[in-house]
Amino acid sequence: MKQDLIQVTSTASAGTSTHRATGALVASVRDLSVHFDTKAGSVHAVDGVSFDIRDGETLGLVGETGCGKSVTARSFLRLVATPPGIYAGGRIDFWSSEAQEAGGGPVNLLTIADDEMLEIRGNRIAMIFQDPSKALNPALSIGDQLAEVFFQHRSNELLAPLGPNVPMIVRRAARQESGQFERIVLQLPPLRSKAAKMRAQVDDLVAGALAETQIPNPRRIMASYPHELSGGMKQRVLIAQALACNPDLLIADEPTTALDVTIQARILNLIAELQQRLGTSVLYISHDLSLVREICDRVAVMYAGRIVETGRTVDLFRQPLHPYTRSLMSAIPSSTSERGRLAAIAGTVPELIDPQPSCRFHSRCPYALEVCREVDPRFLRHDVDHGVACHGHDDPTDLGLRPGDVPTLEPAIQ
Ligand SMILES: Nc1ncnc2c1ncn2[C@@H]1O[C@H](COP(=O)(O)OP(=O)(O)OP(=O)(O)O)[C@@H](O)[C@H]1O
Ligand code: SF4
Ligand SMILES: [Mg+2]
Repeated sequence: MKQDLIQVTSTASAGTSTHRATGALVASVRDLSVHFDTKAGSVHAVDGVSFDIRDGETLGLVGETGCGKSVTARSFLRLVATPPGIYAGGRIDFWSSEAQEAGGGPVNLLTIADDEMLEIRGNRIAMIFQDPSKALNPALSIGDQLAEVFFQHRSNELLAPLGPNVPMIVRRAARQESGQFERIVLQLPPLRSKAAKMRAQVDDLVAGALAETQIPNPRRIMASYPHELSGGMKQRVLIAQALACNPDLLIADEPTTALDVTIQARILNLIAELQQRLGTSVLYISHDLSLVREICDRVAVMYAGRIVETGRTVDLFRQPLHPYTRSLMSAIPSSTSERGRLAAIAGTVPELIDPQPSCRFHSRCPYALEVCREVDPRFLRHDVDHGVACHGHDDPTDLGLRPGDVPTLEPAIQ
């Protein structure tokens, strides 16, 4: 996240170093395809998507509704329901900080064993979901749900107030590893007071995590159940939960859409603090291009299940290459107008059921020619860090065409 554009508050804890070399990859998505079997046919929601997320960076993923952003995000944690979903191809390589430090390679998140995925989920990769109501357990109080994060990921902090020489049985309790007999022993003297102190410490940490999101009256919220909270409050609980994990990668799917602007600023600061403290990488999904421009280091533009352009934010906004990206950019309001979302672009996103080879934007593209209706454009690099999938930027001879046969794009808007 671009630190210079967000005033980071002073609460970030110091001491933890960033863990990977600058520019190293934290995740690499290659040819990811996720389809859905429906009565009408196979919906190619994500179709051959490739992009990288680098260590410590914020990558923005933008595109119109239904273009596959959430399905892509959920694939990192294998949270697409199968069936009807099918992981139809590709891989998502992930380098955890531990693997990096041990000199290990990446794991493919699509093929690792379920218990390995459980270790990564919420621990090395945390996600703030677009729909908070589906992400919280309705049967557990908010306090208990958040406490689990600290038990699972930050047990050392729970033991700190107990001083040195903490008995093993208490250590196991802090990691939620106690058996039934151990739980009984912990309720009896002399361990009862230590167990109570640890529980008080958990409650303090949970209340602190909630307070960071500026949720009013955290102690009351901790005693509440999800159905008792508004959408915005649930979203803040999820944000507190995700940030408390100290993840290597945070996937934020429209995390602040339900929140007002002042809370949004606070949440963005919290994410920026996390990045400063741990070097966390962020995949930030948003409809709000002016926000993406402010906070993202690089941007990937998605259309109808495909990535159509990627680049450094500064390059992409200075010179968008893909006609779709240009349409999105032209919708950004000026400094004198109200912050806006993606403006309507003439036409609609095409049907994703059993798509034929073609540029998927051709029915809406002012530059479309015959070749665009018949041939999938390849994703080509036009600069070190700027790539686009559009025949207008191809070398025409690669397609067996004369130079005049392909559309020449007008200079990009500034
Ligand atoms: N369970 C499902 N069955 C069939 N199609 C699905 C299913 N889940 C998602 N899809 C389809 O996958 C496509 C991509 O959906 P996705 O939720 O990723 O879009 P999105 O880009 O996140 O949109 P938004 O901006 O509205 O959140 C859509 O066309 C959607 O209808
Ligand atoms: S490939 Fe053709 S239709 Fe598609 S965006 Fe480029 S010019 Fe337009
Ligand atoms: Mg979505």
